[in-house]
Amino acid sequence: MAMTPFRLDGRVALVTGAGSGIGAATSRALAAAGALIQVTDASRDAAAKVAHEITAAGGRAEAHQLDVTDETGVTRTINAIADLRGGPDILVNNAGVGARMPSEELSTDSWEKVIAVNMTGAFRCTREAGRRMLQLGKGSIVNVASIMGLVGGGLYPNPAYQATKGALVNWTRAVALEWAARGVRVNAVAPSFARTPLTTKLLADPEMEKAILANTPMGRLVEPDEVAQAILFLASDAASAITGVTLPVDGGWTAR
Ligand code: NAI
Repeated sequence: MAMTPFRLDGRVALVTGAGSGIGAATSRALAAAGALIQVTDASRDAAAKVAHEITAAGGRAEAHQLDVTDETGVTRTINAIADLRGGPDILVNNAGVGARMPSEELSTDSWEKVIAVNMTGAFRCTREAGRRMLQLGKGSIVNVASIMGLVGGGLYPNPAYQATKGALVNWTRAVALEWAARGVRVNAVAPSFARTPLTTKLLADPEMEKAILANTPMGRLVEPDEVAQAILFLASDAASAITGVTLPVDGGWTAR
């Protein structure tokens, strides 16, 4: 097979929250580029369904139930993957949740739940996969942030989400700098609105959808597959000199 820098043949890629939306699209895109995908999700059934779809389409994928808030589960799963399949060469920290609630009404419990998944979950997976990558002297990590980590939002309140996505953007720089000379690249994408189960309720409100489209210079939502292609780029050798960046995939939202 002709090797291009966008191909991932022989690589092992672990995607979190891969049972739905952007994580599922990313798993399909990385599999189409030749990687063996470790499709992980808190929902065992969702992970299994996506892995099955990939293998049915001729790709290579294995499913794991993995909740990124489970300290021992993350360590166990990543070690098992590394021992059995090698790598991981690629980690996509995609699992994410929100809590759309005004700050004055948001409970500490809800705030901490969002931090636990979006921030601490990404840190935990990065630490465990990163150790393996540093041993191998190579690896690529892509964090799924959001335009809500680059701007203040304003259309509706989602303060814990905003806080964690902003944290992901700067943490991406920090880890990238720690590991830059050791062969491990760390980058992020910042998508604007894509139609997935995460946004179903929001986009079901016609006024909200209108406001979102009015704020998007391209005048449309982004497709999960478009986010997946950006993740593929950053994960691949095509981005071999790129580390510490957050790439907006936002129809121009943050250019304004
Ligand atoms: P989704 O809700 O369709 O999928 C999220 C998946 O993560 C689900 O399969 C869920 O089971 C899994 N998950 C939730 N908690 C988990 C945990 N603790 N451990 C492991 N898996 C867990 O969401 P979507 O839209 O695909 O979002 C994926 C990522 O993209 C998130 O980080 C989100 O913040 C980000 N994003 C999404 C945008 C959108 O418009 N859909 C825009 C910008 C960023």
